[in-house]
Amino acid sequence: MEIRFQAHGPAAWKAAAILVPVFEGEDPARKHKWLDEACPWLCIAPALGDFHGKDGELGVFYGHPDLALPRVMLVGLGKEEELDLDRIRNAIGSGMRKARDLALESVILPEPALAAIAGGRQRLVEEGVYAALLGLYRFTKLKKDDDLKDPAWLAVGFEGEIPDGMTEAARRGELAAEAVCRCRDLCNMPANLLNTEALADKADEMAKEAGFTCKRLDPDALLEEGLGCILAVGQGSAQKARLLVLEHAPAGHNEEKPLILIGKGITFDSGGICLKPAANMFQMKGDMGGAAAVLCAVWAAARENIPRRVIGILACAENMPDARAMRPGDVVIAGNGQSVEIINTDAEGRLCLCDAITYAQKYWNPQAIVDIATLTGACAVALGTSLGGLFCDDDSLAAKISASGKLGGENFWRLPLYSPYLKELTGGIADLRNSGPREGGAITAALFLRNFVRKGELWAHLDIAGVDWNAKARPLCPEGATGFGCRALIELCRGGVA
Ligand code: BES
Ligand code: MN
Ligand code: ZN
Repeated sequence: MEIRFQAHGPAAWKAAAILVPVFEGEDPARKHKWLDEACPWLCIAPALGDFHGKDGELGVFYGHPDLALPRVMLVGLGKEEELDLDRIRNAIGSGMRKARDLALESVILPEPALAAIAGGRQRLVEEGVYAALLGLYRFTKLKKDDDLKDPAWLAVGFEGEIPDGMTEAARRGELAAEAVCRCRDLCNMPANLLNTEALADKADEMAKEAGFTCKRLDPDALLEEGLGCILAVGQGSAQKARLLVLEHAPAGHNEEKPLILIGKGITFDSGGICLKPAANMFQMKGDMGGAAAVLCAVWAAARENIPRRVIGILACAENMPDARAMRPGDVVIAGNGQSVEIINTDAEGRLCLCDAITYAQKYWNPQAIVDIATLTGACAVALGTSLGGLFCDDDSLAAKISASGKLGGENFWRLPLYSPYLKELTGGIADLRNSGPREGGAITAALFLRNFVRKGELWAHLDIAGVDWNAKARPLCPEGATGFGCRALIELCRGGVA
Protein backbone atom coordinates (compact mmCIF):
# COMPACT_ATOMS: atom_id res chain seq x y z
CA MET A 1 0.00 0.00 0.00
CA GLU A 2 1.34 3.37 -1.03
CA ILE A 3 1.40 6.23 1.50
CA ARG A 4 0.43 9.65 0.18
CA PHE A 5 -0.47 13.10 1.47
CA GLN A 6 -3.27 15.47 0.52
CA ALA A 7 -3.28 19.16 1.40
CA HIS A 8 -5.64 22.14 1.54
CA GLY A 9 -8.47 20.71 3.58
CA PRO A 10 -11.51 18.58 2.91
CA ALA A 11 -12.67 20.51 -0.14
CA ALA A 12 -9.54 19.28 -1.93
CA TRP A 13 -9.44 15.75 -0.47
CA LYS A 14 -10.40 12.78 -2.58
CA ALA A 15 -10.55 9.08 -1.69
CA ALA A 16 -12.97 6.14 -1.68
CA ALA A 17 -13.47 6.64 2.05
CA ILE A 18 -12.49 8.97 4.85
CA LEU A 19 -11.62 7.22 8.12
CA VAL A 20 -12.59 9.24 11.18
CA PRO A 21 -11.92 8.15 14.78
CA VAL A 22 -14.71 9.42 17.05
CA PHE A 23 -15.18 9.60 20.82
CA GLU A 24 -18.14 7.99 22.51
CA GLY A 25 -21.18 10.26 22.48
CA GLU A 26 -19.69 12.91 20.21
CA ASP A 27 -21.41 14.12 17.08
CA PRO A 28 -18.59 13.93 14.54
CA ALA A 29 -20.09 16.42 12.11
CA ARG A 30 -20.50 19.00 14.88
CA LYS A 31 -17.20 18.35 16.51
CA HIS A 32 -15.18 18.52 13.29
CA LYS A 33 -16.02 21.53 11.15
CA TRP A 34 -13.88 20.13 8.36
CA LEU A 35 -15.90 16.93 8.35
CA ASP A 36 -19.14 18.85 8.12
CA GLU A 37 -17.69 20.78 5.18
CA ALA A 38 -16.45 17.69 3.41
CA CYS A 39 -19.48 15.50 3.99
CA PRO A 40 -22.44 17.72 4.95
CA TRP A 41 -24.75 14.74 4.51
CA LEU A 42 -23.13 13.08 7.52
CA CYS A 43 -25.11 15.31 9.90
CA ILE A 44 -28.09 13.01 9.38
CA ALA A 45 -26.34 9.89 10.62
CA PRO A 46 -26.15 10.67 14.35
CA ALA A 47 -29.84 11.45 14.36
CA LEU A 48 -30.45 7.84 13.38
CA GLY A 49 -28.62 6.84 16.53
CA ASP A 50 -26.94 3.72 15.22
CA PHE A 51 -23.35 4.72 15.94
CA HIS A 52 -22.18 5.56 19.44
CA GLY A 53 -18.40 5.80 19.20
CA LYS A 54 -17.80 2.97 21.65
CA ASP A 55 -14.29 1.55 21.72
CA GLY A 56 -13.96 -0.76 18.72
CA GLU A 57 -17.29 0.24 17.10
CA LEU A 58 -17.29 0.75 13.36
CA GLY A 59 -19.88 2.34 11.08
CA VAL A 60 -19.85 3.12 7.37
CA PHE A 61 -21.98 6.01 6.11
CA TYR A 62 -22.66 6.66 2.47
CA GLY A 63 -22.98 9.84 0.46
CA HIS A 64 -23.56 10.15 -3.27
CA PRO A 65 -21.21 7.95 -5.34
CA ASP A 66 -20.03 10.93 -7.41
CA LEU A 67 -18.71 12.83 -4.39
CA ALA A 68 -14.97 13.22 -3.88
CA LEU A 69 -15.45 11.54 -0.49
CA PRO A 70 -18.41 9.20 -1.00
CA ARG A 71 -17.99 7.24 2.25
CA VAL A 72 -17.29 8.05 5.87
CA MET A 73 -15.96 5.27 8.09
CA LEU A 74 -16.48 6.19 11.71
CA VAL A 75 -14.42 4.20 14.20
CA GLY A 76 -15.15 4.44 17.91
CA LEU A 77 -12.47 5.50 20.37
CA GLY A 78 -14.56 5.09 23.53
CA LYS A 79 -14.62 7.73 26.24
CA GLU A 80 -12.52 10.82 25.60
CA GLU A 81 -10.93 10.73 29.06
CA GLU A 82 -9.71 7.16 28.44
CA LEU A 83 -7.98 7.99 25.17
CA ASP A 84 -4.48 6.74 24.54
CA LEU A 85 -2.37 6.05 21.50
CA ASP A 86 -3.31 2.36 21.53
CA ARG A 87 -6.99 3.17 21.03
CA ILE A 88 -6.16 5.36 18.04
CA ARG A 89 -3.89 2.72 16.57
CA ASN A 90 -6.60 0.07 17.05
CA ALA A 91 -9.25 2.29 15.47
CA ILE A 92 -7.08 2.90 12.43
CA GLY A 93 -6.24 -0.81 12.12
CA SER A 94 -9.93 -1.82 12.26
CA GLY A 95 -10.89 0.90 9.78
CA MET A 96 -8.30 -0.20 7.27
CA ARG A 97 -9.42 -3.81 7.50
CA LYS A 98 -12.99 -2.74 6.89
CA ALA A 99 -11.84 -0.78 3.85
CA ARG A 100 -10.25 -3.93 2.50
CA ASP A 101 -13.38 -6.00 3.20
CA LEU A 102 -15.32 -3.43 1.16
CA ALA A 103 -12.66 -3.64 -1.59
CA LEU A 104 -12.06 0.11 -1.42
CA GLU A 105 -9.27 1.46 -3.54
CA SER A 106 -8.16 4.23 -1.21
CA VAL A 107 -8.58 5.75 2.24
CA ILE A 108 -7.87 9.20 3.60
CA LEU A 109 -6.92 9.67 7.22
CA PRO A 110 -7.63 13.27 8.27
CA GLU A 111 -4.81 14.61 10.43
CA PRO A 112 -7.14 16.97 12.35
CA ALA A 113 -9.01 13.95 13.71
CA LEU A 114 -5.76 12.55 15.07
CA ALA A 115 -4.54 15.79 16.56
CA ALA A 116 -6.42 15.06 19.78
CA ILE A 117 -3.49 13.22 21.29
CA ALA A 118 -0.16 14.50 22.42
CA GLY A 119 3.10 13.76 20.66
CA GLY A 120 3.11 16.13 17.75
CA ARG A 121 2.17 15.68 14.14
CA GLN A 122 5.16 13.60 13.18
CA ARG A 123 4.45 10.97 15.83
CA LEU A 124 0.79 10.86 14.81
CA VAL A 125 1.60 10.35 11.17
CA GLU A 126 4.22 7.74 12.04
CA GLU A 127 1.81 5.82 14.26
CA GLY A 128 -1.12 6.27 11.89
CA VAL A 129 0.82 4.69 9.05
CA TYR A 130 2.21 2.00 11.37
CA ALA A 131 -1.28 1.08 12.63
CA ALA A 132 -2.79 1.03 9.14
CA LEU A 133 -0.15 -1.38 7.89
CA LEU A 134 -0.29 -3.66 10.94
CA GLY A 135 -4.09 -3.72 10.75
CA LEU A 136 -3.86 -5.02 7.20
CA TYR A 137 -1.34 -7.76 8.01
CA ARG A 138 -2.27 -11.31 6.98
CA PHE A 139 -0.18 -14.42 6.50
CA THR A 140 -0.86 -15.35 2.89
CA LYS A 141 2.44 -16.85 1.80
CA LEU A 142 1.10 -20.43 1.81
CA LYS A 143 -2.23 -19.82 0.07
CA LYS A 144 -2.73 -20.31 -3.61
CA ASP A 145 -5.85 -18.24 -4.08
CA ASP A 146 -6.21 -14.99 -2.27
CA ASP A 147 -9.00 -12.72 -3.34
CA LEU A 148 -8.70 -9.96 -0.71
CA LYS A 149 -6.85 -6.89 -1.95
CA ASP A 150 -5.42 -4.16 0.26
CA PRO A 151 -6.39 -0.60 -0.61
CA ALA A 152 -3.93 0.72 -3.21
CA TRP A 153 -3.15 3.81 -1.18
CA LEU A 154 -3.64 5.61 2.10
CA ALA A 155 -3.38 9.38 2.23
CA VAL A 156 -2.98 11.54 5.30
CA GLY A 157 -5.10 14.66 4.80
CA PHE A 158 -4.00 18.08 6.10
CA GLU A 159 -6.06 21.22 6.43
CA GLY A 160 -3.35 23.50 5.05
CA GLU A 161 -0.03 22.79 3.40
CA ILE A 162 1.75 19.51 4.05
CA PRO A 163 3.90 20.20 7.12
CA ASP A 164 7.66 19.53 7.18
CA GLY A 165 8.93 16.12 8.08
CA MET A 166 5.83 14.18 7.07
CA THR A 167 7.52 12.00 4.47
CA GLU A 168 10.17 11.00 6.98
CA ALA A 169 7.57 10.33 9.65
CA ALA A 170 5.53 8.14 7.32
CA ARG A 171 8.67 6.35 6.25
CA ARG A 172 9.54 5.52 9.87
CA GLY A 173 6.06 4.12 10.44
CA GLU A 174 6.23 2.10 7.23
CA LEU A 175 9.65 0.68 8.02
CA ALA A 176 8.72 -0.36 11.56
CA ALA A 177 5.51 -1.95 10.28
CA GLU A 178 7.38 -3.83 7.58
CA ALA A 179 9.85 -5.16 10.16
CA VAL A 180 7.04 -6.34 12.46
CA CYS A 181 5.17 -7.94 9.54
CA ARG A 182 8.32 -9.77 8.45
CA CYS A 183 8.74 -10.94 12.04
CA ARG A 184 5.17 -12.27 12.03
CA ASP A 185 5.74 -14.03 8.72
CA LEU A 186 8.81 -15.80 10.11
CA CYS A 187 6.92 -16.95 13.21
CA ASN A 188 3.82 -18.06 11.31
CA MET A 189 5.91 -20.06 8.86
CA PRO A 190 5.74 -23.75 9.81
CA ALA A 191 8.86 -25.53 11.02
CA ASN A 192 9.09 -27.86 8.01
CA LEU A 193 9.48 -24.79 5.80
CA LEU A 194 11.48 -22.68 8.24
CA ASN A 195 14.09 -24.91 9.83
CA THR A 196 17.40 -23.59 11.19
CA GLU A 197 18.95 -23.73 7.72
CA ALA A 198 16.10 -21.78 6.14
CA LEU A 199 16.21 -19.24 8.95
CA ALA A 200 19.93 -18.75 8.34
CA ASP A 201 19.29 -18.33 4.61
CA LYS A 202 16.55 -15.81 5.37
CA ALA A 203 18.92 -13.87 7.64
CA ASP A 204 21.54 -13.86 4.86
CA GLU A 205 19.00 -12.61 2.36
CA MET A 206 17.84 -9.82 4.66
CA ALA A 207 21.46 -8.90 5.44
CA LYS A 208 22.25 -8.48 1.74
CA GLU A 209 19.10 -6.52 1.15
CA ALA A 210 19.57 -4.05 4.01
CA GLY A 211 23.37 -3.94 4.19
CA PHE A 212 24.36 -5.62 7.46
CA THR A 213 26.61 -8.64 7.91
CA CYS A 214 25.52 -12.15 8.85
CA LYS A 215 27.89 -14.84 10.03
CA ARG A 216 26.96 -18.47 10.75
CA LEU A 217 28.44 -20.67 13.44
CA ASP A 218 27.73 -24.28 12.51
CA PRO A 219 27.87 -27.15 15.03
CA ASP A 220 31.64 -27.60 14.40
CA ALA A 221 32.26 -23.98 15.29
CA LEU A 222 29.97 -24.24 18.33
CA LEU A 223 31.98 -27.28 19.47
CA GLU A 224 35.21 -25.37 19.04
CA GLU A 225 33.77 -22.54 21.14
CA GLY A 226 32.76 -25.08 23.77
CA LEU A 227 29.09 -24.12 23.58
CA GLY A 228 27.82 -27.45 24.90
CA CYS A 229 24.37 -26.27 25.95
CA ILE A 230 23.07 -25.11 22.58
CA LEU A 231 24.64 -28.19 20.99
CA ALA A 232 22.77 -30.41 23.46
CA VAL A 233 19.47 -28.79 22.48
CA GLY A 234 20.10 -29.36 18.78
CA GLN A 235 21.47 -32.90 18.98
CA GLY A 236 18.06 -34.57 18.90
CA SER A 237 17.10 -32.94 15.63
CA ALA A 238 18.06 -33.50 12.00
CA GLN A 239 18.47 -29.71 11.84
CA LYS A 240 21.79 -28.17 12.78
CA ALA A 241 22.00 -25.92 15.83
CA ARG A 242 23.51 -22.57 14.90
CA LEU A 243 24.44 -19.18 16.15
CA LEU A 244 23.78 -16.47 13.60
CA VAL A 245 25.72 -13.30 14.25
CA LEU A 246 24.39 -10.11 12.65
CA GLU A 247 26.15 -6.79 12.73
CA HIS A 248 24.97 -3.32 11.82
CA ALA A 249 28.04 -1.10 12.06
CA PRO A 250 27.43 2.22 10.29
CA ALA A 251 30.39 4.35 9.24
CA GLY A 252 31.72 6.35 12.16
CA HIS A 253 30.23 3.95 14.68
CA ASN A 254 31.97 0.70 13.82
CA GLU A 255 34.37 0.94 16.73
CA GLU A 256 31.86 1.86 19.42
CA LYS A 257 30.57 -0.49 22.11
CA PRO A 258 27.71 -2.39 20.51
CA LEU A 259 24.18 -2.84 21.73
CA ILE A 260 23.87 -6.63 21.67
CA LEU A 261 20.47 -8.20 21.03
CA ILE A 262 20.13 -11.93 21.59
CA GLY A 263 17.09 -13.89 20.40
CA LYS A 264 15.86 -17.40 21.17
CA GLY A 265 15.53 -19.15 17.83
CA ILE A 266 13.93 -22.54 18.45
CA THR A 267 12.36 -23.27 15.07
CA PHE A 268 10.22 -25.93 16.72
CA ASP A 269 9.90 -26.83 20.38
CA SER A 270 8.41 -30.29 20.79
CA GLY A 271 9.72 -30.34 24.36
CA GLY A 272 12.26 -33.01 23.40
CA ILE A 273 12.22 -36.21 25.48
CA CYS A 274 10.03 -34.28 27.97
CA LEU A 275 7.51 -34.10 25.14
CA LYS A 276 4.83 -31.44 25.29
CA PRO A 277 1.13 -32.37 25.19
CA ALA A 278 -0.41 -32.31 21.70
CA ALA A 279 -2.90 -29.49 22.32
CA ASN A 280 -1.56 -26.30 20.74
CA MET A 281 1.86 -27.84 20.19
CA PHE A 282 1.72 -26.44 16.65
CA GLN A 283 2.20 -22.96 18.13
CA MET A 284 5.76 -23.97 19.00
CA LYS A 285 6.68 -23.28 15.37
CA GLY A 286 6.78 -19.73 16.71
CA ASP A 287 9.35 -20.49 19.40
CA MET A 288 11.85 -18.49 17.37
CA GLY A 289 9.90 -15.27 18.01
CA GLY A 290 12.79 -13.74 19.92
CA ALA A 291 15.26 -14.47 17.12
CA ALA A 292 12.82 -13.15 14.51
CA ALA A 293 12.33 -9.94 16.52
CA VAL A 294 16.10 -9.43 16.69
CA LEU A 295 16.63 -10.22 13.00
CA CYS A 296 13.90 -7.84 11.88
CA ALA A 297 15.01 -5.10 14.27
CA VAL A 298 18.59 -5.28 12.96
CA TRP A 299 17.17 -5.24 9.43
CA ALA A 300 15.23 -2.07 10.27
CA ALA A 301 18.29 -0.49 11.93
CA ALA A 302 20.31 -1.11 8.76
CA ARG A 303 17.57 0.06 6.41
CA GLU A 304 17.12 3.25 8.41
CA ASN A 305 20.86 3.56 8.88
CA ILE A 306 20.45 4.17 12.60
CA PRO A 307 23.72 5.73 13.81
CA ARG A 308 24.59 3.07 16.35
CA ARG A 309 26.43 -0.21 16.31
CA VAL A 310 24.04 -3.10 16.86
CA ILE A 311 24.94 -6.78 17.04
CA GLY A 312 22.25 -9.45 16.86
CA ILE A 313 22.83 -13.03 17.92
CA LEU A 314 20.23 -15.59 16.97
CA ALA A 315 20.51 -18.79 19.00
CA CYS A 316 18.91 -21.32 16.67
CA ALA A 317 18.10 -24.98 17.13
CA GLU A 318 15.21 -27.39 16.89
CA ASN A 319 14.13 -29.22 20.06
CA MET A 320 13.16 -32.77 19.07
CA PRO A 321 13.03 -36.21 20.69
CA ASP A 322 15.33 -38.64 18.93
CA ALA A 323 17.79 -41.41 19.62
CA ARG A 324 20.50 -38.78 19.93
CA ALA A 325 18.42 -36.29 21.92
CA MET A 326 19.57 -35.01 25.29
CA ARG A 327 17.90 -36.85 28.18
CA PRO A 328 16.69 -35.63 31.53
CA GLY A 329 19.59 -36.16 33.89
CA ASP A 330 22.30 -35.57 31.28
CA VAL A 331 25.04 -33.15 32.26
CA VAL A 332 26.53 -30.83 29.65
CA ILE A 333 29.19 -28.12 29.78
CA ALA A 334 28.15 -24.57 29.00
CA GLY A 335 30.34 -22.08 27.16
CA ASN A 336 31.47 -20.50 30.42
CA GLY A 337 32.79 -23.85 31.68
CA GLN A 338 30.00 -24.54 34.17
CA SER A 339 28.26 -27.90 34.17
CA VAL A 340 24.50 -27.94 33.67
CA GLU A 341 22.22 -30.80 34.63
CA ILE A 342 19.30 -31.17 32.23
CA ILE A 343 16.34 -31.64 34.55
CA ASN A 344 13.77 -30.90 31.85
CA THR A 345 14.52 -31.06 28.14
CA ASP A 346 11.66 -28.64 27.57
CA ALA A 347 13.63 -25.89 29.32
CA GLU A 348 15.73 -25.60 26.16
CA GLY A 349 15.53 -21.87 25.50
CA ARG A 350 17.75 -20.90 28.41
CA LEU A 351 20.30 -23.48 27.25
CA CYS A 352 20.60 -21.76 23.89
CA LEU A 353 20.57 -18.26 25.33
CA CYS A 354 23.19 -18.90 28.02
CA ASP A 355 25.75 -19.92 25.39
CA ALA A 356 24.86 -16.92 23.23
CA ILE A 357 25.41 -14.65 26.24
CA THR A 358 28.81 -16.26 26.89
CA TYR A 359 29.76 -15.87 23.23
CA ALA A 360 28.70 -12.21 23.18
CA GLN A 361 30.85 -11.38 26.21
CA LYS A 362 33.84 -13.24 24.82
CA TYR A 363 34.03 -11.28 21.58
CA TRP A 364 32.65 -7.85 22.42
CA ASN A 365 32.56 -5.25 25.11
CA PRO A 366 28.83 -4.57 25.04
CA GLN A 367 27.14 -1.27 25.80
CA ALA A 368 24.24 -3.45 26.94
CA ILE A 369 22.93 -6.95 26.29
CA VAL A 370 19.21 -7.47 25.79
CA ASP A 371 17.89 -10.95 25.25
CA ILE A 372 14.38 -11.74 24.08
CA ALA A 373 12.74 -15.15 24.20
CA THR A 374 9.50 -17.09 24.24
CA LEU A 375 10.95 -18.56 27.40
CA THR A 376 8.39 -19.67 29.96
CA GLY A 377 4.73 -20.59 30.13
CA ALA A 378 5.00 -19.27 33.70
CA CYS A 379 5.49 -15.74 32.37
CA ALA A 380 2.30 -16.06 30.31
CA VAL A 381 0.46 -17.30 33.40
CA ALA A 382 1.74 -14.37 35.45
CA LEU A 383 1.22 -11.54 32.96
CA GLY A 384 -1.41 -12.74 30.51
CA THR A 385 -1.40 -12.21 26.78
CA SER A 386 -0.84 -8.45 26.56
CA LEU A 387 2.20 -7.87 28.76
CA GLY A 388 5.74 -9.06 28.17
CA GLY A 389 8.01 -9.80 31.13
CA LEU A 390 10.99 -7.51 31.72
CA PHE A 391 13.84 -8.56 33.99
CA CYS A 392 16.64 -6.09 34.60
CA ASP A 393 18.77 -5.08 37.58
CA ASP A 394 19.46 -1.64 36.13
CA ASP A 395 16.63 0.87 36.55
CA SER A 396 17.77 3.10 33.74
CA LEU A 397 18.01 0.32 31.13
CA ALA A 398 14.67 -1.06 32.34
CA ALA A 399 13.06 2.37 31.92
CA LYS A 400 14.49 2.69 28.41
CA ILE A 401 13.11 -0.68 27.39
CA SER A 402 9.69 0.03 28.92
CA ALA A 403 9.49 3.37 27.15
CA SER A 404 10.63 1.84 23.84
CA GLY A 405 7.88 -0.75 24.11
CA LYS A 406 5.17 1.70 25.10
CA LEU A 407 5.93 3.95 22.14
CA GLY A 408 4.81 1.22 19.77
CA GLY A 409 2.06 -0.36 21.87
CA GLU A 410 4.15 -3.21 23.28
CA ASN A 411 3.90 -3.12 27.05
CA PHE A 412 6.39 -4.79 29.35
CA TRP A 413 5.91 -5.38 33.06
CA ARG A 414 8.92 -5.60 35.29
CA LEU A 415 9.39 -8.84 37.22
CA PRO A 416 11.96 -9.47 39.96
CA LEU A 417 15.36 -11.13 39.65
CA TYR A 418 14.89 -12.44 43.18
CA SER A 419 18.26 -13.94 44.07
CA PRO A 420 17.11 -16.35 46.82
CA TYR A 421 15.27 -18.39 44.19
CA LEU A 422 18.62 -19.21 42.62
CA LYS A 423 18.92 -22.02 45.16
CA GLU A 424 16.24 -23.86 43.20
CA LEU A 425 18.82 -24.26 40.45
CA THR A 426 21.80 -25.28 42.57
CA GLY A 427 22.32 -28.27 44.81
CA GLY A 428 22.10 -30.90 42.09
CA ILE A 429 25.01 -32.99 40.83
CA ALA A 430 26.23 -30.20 38.51
CA ASP A 431 26.95 -26.48 38.96
CA LEU A 432 23.44 -25.62 37.80
CA ARG A 433 20.16 -27.33 37.00
CA ASN A 434 18.33 -26.12 33.92
CA SER A 435 14.97 -25.89 35.67
CA GLY A 436 13.36 -25.49 39.05
CA PRO A 437 9.82 -25.91 40.37
CA ARG A 438 6.73 -24.67 38.53
CA GLU A 439 6.25 -21.85 41.01
CA GLY A 440 8.17 -18.74 40.00
CA GLY A 441 9.21 -20.40 36.74
CA ALA A 442 9.72 -17.15 34.83
CA ILE A 443 11.97 -15.84 37.59
CA THR A 444 14.16 -18.94 37.89
CA ALA A 445 14.58 -18.94 34.10
CA ALA A 446 15.75 -15.32 34.26
CA LEU A 447 18.09 -16.13 37.16
CA PHE A 448 19.54 -19.02 35.16
CA LEU A 449 20.42 -16.55 32.40
CA ARG A 450 21.80 -13.95 34.80
CA ASN A 451 24.24 -16.56 36.08
CA PHE A 452 26.02 -16.26 32.72
CA VAL A 453 26.18 -12.46 32.68
CA ARG A 454 29.53 -11.02 33.80
CA LYS A 455 29.51 -8.78 36.86
CA GLY A 456 29.06 -5.13 35.88
CA GLU A 457 27.55 -5.92 32.48
CA LEU A 458 24.28 -4.12 31.62
CA TRP A 459 21.74 -6.80 30.82
CA ALA A 460 18.00 -7.17 30.40
CA HIS A 461 15.87 -10.21 29.66
CA LEU A 462 12.50 -10.03 27.89
CA ASP A 463 10.16 -13.01 28.23
CA ILE A 464 7.61 -12.87 25.41
CA ALA A 465 5.94 -16.25 25.93
CA GLY A 466 2.20 -15.69 25.65
CA VAL A 467 2.38 -12.29 23.97
CA ASP A 468 4.07 -13.73 20.89
CA TRP A 469 0.85 -15.43 19.79
CA ASN A 470 -2.76 -14.28 19.36
CA ALA A 471 -5.28 -17.06 19.98
CA LYS A 472 -7.93 -14.64 18.63
CA ALA A 473 -7.65 -11.76 16.19
CA ARG A 474 -7.09 -8.24 17.60
CA PRO A 475 -7.37 -4.90 15.79
CA LEU A 476 -3.67 -4.76 14.88
CA CYS A 477 -3.01 -8.46 14.44
CA PRO A 478 -4.95 -11.48 13.22
CA GLU A 479 -4.86 -14.88 14.90
CA GLY A 480 -1.28 -16.22 14.99
CA ALA A 481 2.12 -14.66 15.51
CA THR A 482 2.17 -11.07 16.79
CA GLY A 483 5.80 -10.05 16.24
CA PHE A 484 5.82 -8.73 19.81
CA GLY A 485 9.08 -7.14 20.85
CA CYS A 486 10.31 -6.29 17.37
CA ARG A 487 9.06 -2.71 17.50
CA ALA A 488 10.42 -2.26 21.04
CA LEU A 489 13.88 -3.34 19.87
CA ILE A 490 13.69 -0.97 16.90
CA GLU A 491 12.83 1.92 19.23
CA LEU A 492 15.64 0.88 21.55
CA CYS A 493 18.05 1.05 18.60
CA ARG A 494 16.61 4.38 17.48
CA GLY A 495 17.33 5.59 20.98
CA GLY A 496 14.68 8.29 21.02
CA VAL A 497 13.50 7.44 24.54
CA ALA A 498 14.47 8.31 28.12
N1 BES B 1 8.86 -22.37 24.44
C1 BES B 1 8.44 -22.75 25.73
C2 BES B 1 7.69 -21.65 26.47
C3 BES B 1 6.39 -21.19 25.88
C4 BES B 1 5.22 -21.65 26.38
C5 BES B 1 6.35 -20.25 24.87
C6 BES B 1 4.02 -21.21 25.86
C7 BES B 1 5.16 -19.80 24.35
C8 BES B 1 4.00 -20.27 24.84
C9 BES B 1 9.65 -23.12 26.60
O1 BES B 1 10.71 -23.69 25.92
C10 BES B 1 9.20 -24.11 27.60
O2 BES B 1 8.83 -25.17 27.21
N2 BES B 1 9.27 -23.74 28.86
C11 BES B 1 8.90 -24.62 29.93
C12 BES B 1 9.93 -24.50 31.01
C13 BES B 1 9.80 -25.53 32.09
C14 BES B 1 10.04 -26.91 31.54
C15 BES B 1 10.80 -25.24 33.19
C16 BES B 1 7.53 -24.18 30.44
O3 BES B 1 7.26 -22.98 30.45
O4 BES B 1 6.74 -25.05 30.75
MN1 MN C 1 10.52 -25.79 25.74
ZN1 ZN D 1 10.86 -23.24 23.93
